[in-house]
Formats: sequence, structure tokens, C-alpha cells
Amino acid sequence: MTLAPIGVFDSGIGGLSVWREIVRQLPAESTLYFADQAHIPYGPRPLAEVQDFARAITRFLLEQGAKLIVVACNTASGAALYALRESFPEVAFVGMEPAVKPAAEQTRTGNVGIIATPATFQGELFRRLAQRFAADVQLHTQTCPGLVAAVETGALDTPETRTLLHRYLEPLLAQDIDELVLGCTHYPFLRPAIEEIVGPAVTIIDPAPAVARQVGRILARQRTLAPPTARAAHRFYTSGDPARLTQQARELVGYQGESFQARWQGGELTLIN
Ligand code: DGL
Repeated sequence: MTLAPIGVFDSGIGGLSVWREIVRQLPAESTLYFADQAHIPYGPRPLAEVQDFARAITRFLLEQGAKLIVVACNTASGAALYALRESFPEVAFVGMEPAVKPAAEQTRTGNVGIIATPATFQGELFRRLAQRFAADVQLHTQTCPGLVAAVETGALDTPETRTLLHRYLEPLLAQDIDELVLGCTHYPFLRPAIEEIVGPAVTIIDPAPAVARQVGRILARQRTLAPPTARAAHRFYTSGDPARLTQQARELVGYQGESFQARWQGGELTLIN
């Protein structure tokens, strides 16, 4: 039993869609959340660069006492999960992957839509998933430039964001999809608008609940679950503006605490204040 926190990171606030599920399912657990808002978006960046960020963020979260690391970013998971497990063999990681398996099992039309960043589709993780689970179905992939920025700026339901959503989702609907996989942790915050556009005939799959369950399973197996009576404490960090992260986290997931700044210096993160 331990009171050590779970470390969670993303390029920005998308990982909060995973963080809220972890906190909902494991209310006794303390957490650390790191948003790399100095480098967002990760999606268009080369995989090697995202790997370097992910390693440095992992070192930072371990220094702050994390007992397990959740890579709450599909892009960073796709680019760096294998590399992280190699660089930190003693650390337990839980990553995100587009939910190809459940979508392929459930589809009746045989057409599955996946929305994610360009880097996620380029990564080895996605290639393996598609090969392993989607041999008998058609995967229709769609990148969505602008959606991550829409979430980061709080434009969850503006006419501009709706125009973007129509542009990205209509070609998928034209392919007769009946499953839509949210392959980027920012997108669940756009779910109400997405649901309206795709309609009730399309099932939307957000892997966050499954990821939180996996976190619980690993902690139980490692015997590092917090005792049920523990008082959970949460700490948020950003490489961007902490006041902004505090406000974003309050609006999106009701986070009541403050945020701290960790600055990039020579490829490593240093805590300020
Ligand atoms: N939230 C991240 C993901 O799940 C991506 C955002 C970005 O491009 O930085 O892929």
C-alpha cells in the first residue's frame, strides 16, 4: 500500500479526459498531471522528438514520486511507449491506443472510423493494432487539424469547431461507418458536438474508462494501490502558463487546486517556485 501518486501526462489538457476517469474509478489515489503546453501540438512532430519529450517528462514525474506513469496521449504513446519501456524497465507504464479491437468486434457495417493525429497513424503501435485486429474490417482513418487547438482554447462548441467537425466526420459517414474511435485524448471533450453530427447510429468509443481500469489492475498486481481511506491529493504541472492550466482544468474537469510551472532547460524539466 502506498500513498505515492500516479503520474499522468499529455501534450496539453487532452489527458484530463483520462485523468477524470482515473479519479472517478480510483478515488483514493493521488495524482500528478503534467501538460507539455510549451510543445503542443505533438501531432505534427517527428516521432524522435516526441520520444525525447516523453523520456524527460517521465524522469520529471518519477522525481516527483510517481509510482506508475500513464501516457494519456495517443500521439506520445504511439511514438514513445516502446521506447519508454526500454529506457525505464523498472517502471510500469499505461499507454493509450486507438480502440481498434472493440470497434472491429462490434461493427456491423464492417466500416470503422478513427480520428487521431498524423503521428498516431504513423506510429508502429497503430500499424500493429490494424494488422492484429482489423484484418476483416475496413479502417477509415482521418486526421483532424485544428481540433486539438479548439479544445485547448475552450472552443468546444463554436461555429468554427462545428465546421471542422463536419469537414472531418462527413467523409467517414459517407463510408458507412457505425463505430467511431476517438484516437486522441483531446477529442472526448468534443463528444457532445460529435454525437450530434454522427447521430445515434454511430457508436463512439473513448478508451479512457478501459485505461483507468488497466491502471487499477496494475496497481493491484504491484500491491501499490492506495488504501481506501487515503486522502487523495492532486498536483498539476505545465511547461506553459500555470494560471491558464488551472482555469482550463477547473472548466473541463472541475479541478479545484492550483498548477505549477516546470520549465524546459537543456532538454530536461525543472520545477519553478
Ligand atoms: N492529446 C494528444 C493525443 O491523444 C494529442 C494532441 C497533440 O497533437 O499534441 O494524441
